[in-house]
Amino acid sequence: MTSAPQAQLSRSFAVCLSGGSGSRYGRRLVEVLLQLGHTVHLCATGAALRVLQHEDGIELEAASPDLAQLVPQALHDNLHVHALDAVEAAPASGSAKIAATIVVPCSMGTLARVAHGFSSNLVERAADVAIKEGRSLVLVPRETPLSEVHLENMLKLARMGVIVLPAMPGFYHRPNSIAELVDFVVGKILDRLDVAHNLVPRWQTPTNESKWDEGEAT
Ligand SMILES: Cc1cc2nc3c(=O)[nH]c(=O)nc-3n(C[C@H](O)[C@H](O)[C@H](O)COP(=O)(O)O)c2cc1C
Repeated sequence: MTSAPQAQLSRSFAVCLSGGSGSRYGRRLVEVLLQLGHTVHLCATGAALRVLQHEDGIELEAASPDLAQLVPQALHDNLHVHALDAVEAAPASGSAKIAATIVVPCSMGTLARVAHGFSSNLVERAADVAIKEGRSLVLVPRETPLSEVHLENMLKLARMGVIVLPAMPGFYHRPNSIAELVDFVVGKILDRLDVAHNLVPRWQTPTNESKWDEGEAT
């Protein structure tokens, strides 16, 4: 269980999984936000379901996936799961009280459609609404290498104020596990959402007595 480093007002976040590699970033973000007492509106594209199956062995029914299965039962109270075509769901409305929308992982396809104002499903509509309402929108793309098309779309979005936060974990905290690499990226997302957390040790100026030199990432 993740404990809140300090009390924060509970807020609502739309977390959208699309078909980029790294669905565990999205799953972990949802888990941490719920553990910290926030509300999460969750949806996923069809390709995200395929990635969940390939990467994590999680099989959800394509026609009506029960996304709640991605989250421990004990955290379901503040979880709202939406179908991809549920354009009446809260994240699709500019008047709903959604603090921020996060697409994680964000495929190059979804990123391109968001950059060009498509709203053909709830994920794209939630992102579109965040942009038009001036709310925080965090996209977590994952692809390599990046083509000129990808880079142009990202630049376009960044110039609009969208936070383009690639799934690029650092190694300076000396991770020992995949979970720590995932938490590095999720911690970066939480920082941009102004959600206090202690998922990753904060970098401090190295000294002769630095704990970093002893390999203790605390
Ligand atoms: C296992 C797997 C991994 C994938 N990884 C990526 C990726 O890292 N980045 C990406 O842009 N697309 C990736 N794709 C391809 C997208 O899922 C595909 O382009 C899909 O049409 C995106 O649809 P969406 O944007 O509606 O989620 C992957 C697909 C699979 C099956």
